[in-house]
Formats: sequence, C-alpha cells, structure tokens
Amino acid sequence: MAKVSVFASGNGSNFEAIVKALQGTPHQVVCLISDNEKAYALERAKRLQIPYHVFPFRSPTERRESEVNILNLLRSYGTDFIALAGFMKLLSPLLIDAYPNRIVNLHPSLLPKYPGTQGIRDSYLSGDKELGITIHYVDYGLDTGPIITQRSFRREGTETLEEIEEKIHTLEHEVYPKVLIELLDALERHT
Ligand code: GAR
Repeated sequence: MAKVSVFASGNGSNFEAIVKALQGTPHQVVCLISDNEKAYALERAKRLQIPYHVFPFRSPTERRESEVNILNLLRSYGTDFIALAGFMKLLSPLLIDAYPNRIVNLHPSLLPKYPGTQGIRDSYLSGDKELGITIHYVDYGLDTGPIITQRSFRREGTETLEEIEEKIHTLEHEVYPKVLIELLDALERHT
C-alpha cells in the first residue's frame, strides 16, 4: 500500500477525485496539504475525513519554514508519494530532493505550452485547435519536469472559456487518478 499526500491551493476537485479513486485500491491518501486557509479543498477534506494541514507560503522565509514543517509532517504520515493537484506554489529543492521521482503535478495545458497559474485561460486565448492536460514529474522549474503523459482534444472553436474549463476539468478527473494509481502500483512493485 502506497501512502499519498496531496497538495492543493484552491477548489480541490482533483483532490476529491483522487481520494475517491484510491478508495478502490490498496493505496491511500493520508493527508491534504494547502498553503491557503480559505481553500475549498479543506472543506472537501473535512467531508471526506482526510486530515488536512495549512502552511503559509507568503514570503521566502515563511516558505522555508513551512517546507521544513511539511517535510516532518509528511514523514510522520509515512508518505511515499506526493501528488500536486492545483497547488499554486513552487516547491524548493528541500522537498523535491526528499522525494526524487515521487512528486507529480497536473497541469491544464499541453506543456511546454502555457505553464504557470493561468494554463486554461492562456490555452483558450491562444486560439490553438488542440488543447489538453499534462501530468509530469516535478523538478525545480515552473511546470518543467519530465512529462509522464498528456491527453488532448480538438476544440470546435465556438466554446466559451467556461465550456473549455469544464472539458479540461472532466479530462483531469478522469485521467489524473488513473495515472496516479499506475504510478503507485509500479512503486509498490519496485520496493
Ligand atoms: C487544475 O485545473 C490543475 O490542472 C491546475 O489547477 C486546477 C486545480 O483545480 N493546476 C495548475 O494550474 C498548476 N500549475 P482543482 O483545485 O479543482 O483540482
């Protein structure tokens, strides 16, 4: 059984999709970490009975302190793997080096196109005919780590931003938990 900690800053719909998908597997979400005390993800965690913890990342000093505390906490949960699901802060080498090849991120564009916090809006405004999502390992850069998989769809051209947003979220909820389970199964086979 692999123990996963999920990081989220906002709505948390992917966090919830992961928790529910893992319920049918030997793996388990052991906690939610957020940098935002107002994140709706925290409400979801309460409802799903997943422990959650908030650590501020408002300044470099605060981030350093928070990451030390997060690392201790992750270890206390026996965390094997970290899934970023709408976590909008960059992690430092402290955390990344503690979990080599064991931190993955979901991004709502076909990376390397449109990294950052506005992936959906930037993709939408680009006029690109093919839009999609990326799941990748986390390295020191902003949405730059090795790509694990991507899924795309062709836009008709008449959709609103909200419709594209919905398509992307639906795709994310379908694909991210599945890929995560495959990675966790592989982790179990190799440890
Ligand atoms: C998702 O669309 C995810 O791809 C994106 O944040 C959203 C979180 O939604 N992540 C990034 O932009 C990371 N750079 P959620 O809080 O409802 O899961």
